[in-house]
Amino acid sequence: MNKKQAGERISKLRELINDYRYHYHVLDESVMSEAAADSLKHELSQLETEYPELITSDSPTQRVAGAPLPGFTQVEHSSRMLSLNDVFDETEIRGWQDRMIKLLPENSKLEYFADIKMDGLALALVYEDGVLVRGITRGDGFVGEDVTSNIRTIDSVPLRLRSSKKYESFLHGRTEVRGEIVMYKDDFAKLNEQQAAAGKKLFANPRNTAAGTIRQLDPQLVSGRPLHFRAYDILRNDPSDVPTNSFAYEALRGLGFLANKDATVLKDLSAIMRFAEEWDTKRQTLPFNTDGLVIKVNDRQLYRRLGVVGKAPRAAVALKYAAEQATTKVKDIFVSIGRTGAATPVAMLEPVLIAGSTVQMATLHNESEVARKDIRIGDTVIVHKAGDIIPEVVEPLVKLRDGSEKPFQMPTHCPECNTKLVKYKAEDAVWRCPNEACPSRAWKRIEHFASKSALDIEGLGEKNVIALINAELVKDPADIYTLTVEDLLKLDRFAEVSANKLVNAIQSKKEPPLNRFIYGLGIRHIGTQTAIDLANHFKTLEILSEATIDELAEVEGVGEVVAESTVEWFSEPRNQKLLEKFKKLKVWPLPVKHVGGKLSGQRFVVTGSLESMGREEAGERIRALGGTFQSSVGKDTDFLVVGANVGASKLTKAAKLGTKQLTEKEFLEVIK
Ligand code: IVH
Repeated sequence: MNKKQAGERISKLRELINDYRYHYHVLDESVMSEAAADSLKHELSQLETEYPELITSDSPTQRVAGAPLPGFTQVEHSSRMLSLNDVFDETEIRGWQDRMIKLLPENSKLEYFADIKMDGLALALVYEDGVLVRGITRGDGFVGEDVTSNIRTIDSVPLRLRSSKKYESFLHGRTEVRGEIVMYKDDFAKLNEQQAAAGKKLFANPRNTAAGTIRQLDPQLVSGRPLHFRAYDILRNDPSDVPTNSFAYEALRGLGFLANKDATVLKDLSAIMRFAEEWDTKRQTLPFNTDGLVIKVNDRQLYRRLGVVGKAPRAAVALKYAAEQATTKVKDIFVSIGRTGAATPVAMLEPVLIAGSTVQMATLHNESEVARKDIRIGDTVIVHKAGDIIPEVVEPLVKLRDGSEKPFQMPTHCPECNTKLVKYKAEDAVWRCPNEACPSRAWKRIEHFASKSALDIEGLGEKNVIALINAELVKDPADIYTLTVEDLLKLDRFAEVSANKLVNAIQSKKEPPLNRFIYGLGIRHIGTQTAIDLANHFKTLEILSEATIDELAEVEGVGEVVAESTVEWFSEPRNQKLLEKFKKLKVWPLPVKHVGGKLSGQRFVVTGSLESMGREEAGERIRALGGTFQSSVGKDTDFLVVGANVGASKLTKAAKLGTKQLTEKEFLEVIK
């Protein structure tokens, strides 16, 4: 190969490797395996060793970490990197909108562009004629630090802008891209696991870790940490190159950046509120942390015209979610016995409002957690609540102690039945009540059996179950089927109508779907999804009950832990008796009929909100019919179910990949 041929090969290899990078990081899909891409990189690097004069700074081989730096150089930003003012609710957004309307010419039409606010650190990337020349941290907004050699090691930072006919002009002259460097939650957890295993200090949170990493003087260290760059802004000398913020995101993607797919144009205030509500729960599923949304005026001319107040543009705000933490006092600590007998210390709190709901109790997990955090009765503590998760006590505010606080003593006996608590293994963190007949365990078991995700028996909530147990009418889940209206009428809680209603609700659930029944049995480690997998695989409860550990472990999604606890559950004489009792009462799950499932082998993505059910339920229905429920559209996706308020990006991607789209109505037909 002569130099000319090598040059041609090199440029083709670079193109292919960049293409791989772009598809992987921006489109979240794979055009070849990582191993294949590595092998192309290897060939490129060999050619470059042979012809070092052909190396350019934007070659994929130049991502390698360079030598440590003596310090960072300060660089001035081309335009100030601003911050955002916070708003918390509809009234405050309206106030923001009103202030803008007053400043704009009459009849100006305000349209918004919303994105997730990422919790990372801001970074500006400067490209000259399409080639990355500098990466600068935010610093004080005017002057930042030159961290170019560090950010070059981050795969989602393009070293060269991707050529694109549509955005050709951005490849000439100066283009600045701004965005957020984030560490994903999963990667952060893994990193901390490694730290712990190596006996090193744990990192506090993903943002600090990302920020600390970027400010490392040794690029080698940076290249070993999983960081991602997600872009949110693009700047040109001539601002008319970027007419709207939605255009900015499209251009960013076209030029090879990862820009959040969920970012979208919103027409008015009520659309903003709907979007905020949708993300209030959905944000838990994002790979990175977020504490709100960024809402901007979409038209960039109007945006500029609205100017800057203090440190923030008037045309954008951060819409923050209600605080998920608050401080309150621990009134007492008691021990709650779960259905498996686990004894969990629970803090009783002075009621406090967190993220819109009153919290009075928070889990303390187990005895050693209480000791580790040193939580005492009487302490003022920080309480955290995220989504639907049970609130937990984060830490006590030790400085607020006055000496009256009392340390917690784990009881030696079950507070319900007075049986001595035991640990199954010495290294277990959890104490358990071993008494199978413990009323607290019975109550939790029955409550679980009747719960929404299990048999879904309306009217059989916590309070009614406790009343039934206290009246000695029921001891286990099978007993509920023996209840008569007369039985219930003996209790204060029931009158004719409510008693009839409950008995009917129970009797209507004598032939439940197999997956719900399996879940309802409360076998340790079996959640709703595993129950579906088991039901689809074994088809009947009889077959499942006889499955060996090996047979169970063959089921996709079932690991050793589940396999073992399942076998253990079915071999327990007490549980066998329970199943016999069900059988005598003619309560038995229906076998799974569909061979392989009606939707077997078909992959679905649901986007937007459905009227008839939540995403989770849609997923459950798809899986129950043997289909696969995916979180994002990829090459292998067969159907995209399109609900309301859908961002354009998913649809564009589906259209590009030729994925078949279903309306909600069509979807309901499919799963009927
Ligand atoms: S737009 C005026 N979009 O939030 C700056 N910023 O408090 C407007 N941030 O420094 C930037 N996610 O680093 C924008 N999707 C997003 C963002 C985002 C996080 C950061 C950004 C900025 C800070 C403002």
